[in-house]
Amino acid sequence: MSEKKQYENETRSGSAVKRWLYAGFGALILSLIIIYLARIDAVNRFMGTADEVGKAQQATEQIEAARKEFLQTSDALSVDNSISGLNIPTDPEGFFAPPNESEIPDNEFGDSIIRGREIFLNPGANATAFVGNSLACANCHLNAGQQAHSAPMWAAAGMYPTYRGKNKKINTMEDRVNGCFTYSMNAPNSPSGGPPPEGHQIYKDLESYFHWMATGAPNRVDLPGSGYPELDEPEAGYDAGRGEKVFETQCAVCHGDEGQGRQDMNGRYVFPPLWGPNSYNWGAGMHRVNTAAGFIYANMPLGLPFSLTEQEAWDVAAYINSHERPADPRQPDEELSVAQAAEHYHDHKCYYNKEVQGHVIGKGVSADPEAVPSSTGTVVPEH
Ligand code: HEC
Ligand code: HEC
Repeated sequence: MSEKKQYENETRSGSAVKRWLYAGFGALILSLIIIYLARIDAVNRFMGTADEVGKAQQATEQIEAARKEFLQTSDALSVDNSISGLNIPTDPEGFFAPPNESEIPDNEFGDSIIRGREIFLNPGANATAFVGNSLACANCHLNAGQQAHSAPMWAAAGMYPTYRGKNKKINTMEDRVNGCFTYSMNAPNSPSGGPPPEGHQIYKDLESYFHWMATGAPNRVDLPGSGYPELDEPEAGYDAGRGEKVFETQCAVCHGDEGQGRQDMNGRYVFPPLWGPNSYNWGAGMHRVNTAAGFIYANMPLGLPFSLTEQEAWDVAAYINSHERPADPRQPDEELSVAQAAEHYHDHKCYYNKEVQGHVIGKGVSADPEAVPSSTGTVVPEH
């Protein structure tokens, strides 16, 4: 054997040994990996994950479908005026039926409910410090806040907290009631100069009353009869001049020729004022023509709901809201001109900062303090 061959042989057998060594090493690593995977239960883990991803996705889809169905159901409820599919108490007309007075519990909660109702009916006497006009909550939320299509409290109670475009945030019920004090009750002109401070007992009592009234009603469902009807603007638009005629024939008999309302012998209001210093201010929802039209259509003349045409309701709403009333408190508070306040806060159907019979209105009329009878209390007539 030549030296060269011998060398080749040795090298060949050397590389064979190496190959075996590599193979052995590889096998060892592989079996270690297999043992490891077996110990961590890899098959179930990885295959199971794929399975669970599928399940999670299915669950998400089911939840989304259920939510969509819920929203469609609650929409359908307000469209059909029917809550017959739900197991909740309804009156003969199919609206939610709040409990009777006799069902007010005889305990501390019941005491709070009763106080809340008294405030609602007569805030001038029972929340005197925070009322700056001659209105009562129940003047715009009829039948002590129980009337369908009159923004009833049984429909509102389950809808809060909720988002409001007016102040661009989630509003609690307290926030919402604070708003009605500030604007509808013109609290800036009240003895305290503003609405009840945060956490005040007045809010707690009103909320007890609303919560109780909604006993048996579902939450977060827009119930039929909630709010005021939303009327489409008629083709002929709305016109204060036409509305004046409606006012004279249908409204003045109770609300007075000048919309000033009517008082009894003790100076208490029997029919509430529609404009002027003792009515709602320029920031109140009712100053919007569309909102007032919806309220009037469904509730006025008192005792004759839905008797006006939609056109008449729009026109008379335009007429009552084309008169001066107390200032929008945001205008002086934020040192805005009426034109600036109009731009910031009145991008809707209203007469704020509009010219009416040669005068731009919206500056506001302030009450003669002597003439504000709010502290004597507003009497809500029986009907
Ligand atoms: C001048 C009329 C007027 C007076 C007075 C008034 N409100 Fe309102 N209230 C409204 C209007 C308008 C709305 C908005 C209704 C709508 O947009 O459908 C409203 C809405 C509400 C809501 C929310 C209703 C809902 O469905 O979301 C609550 C709660 C409320 N008012 C409570 C009160 C309380 C409490 C008082 C008395 C302190 C009061 N209101 C006085 C006109 C009035
Ligand atoms: C039979 C008397 C009567 C007639 C007629 C009548 N109202 Fe009223 N109106 C009332 C009473 C009473 C209230 C307060 C409701 C309550 O407290 O139960 C009221 C409340 C209102 C309110 C909300 C409170 C306020 O002062 O702003 C407006 C707005 C209103 N009426 C507009 C009209 C319009 C517009 C007409 C004519 C289409 C009219 N009313 C006809 C008796 C009447």
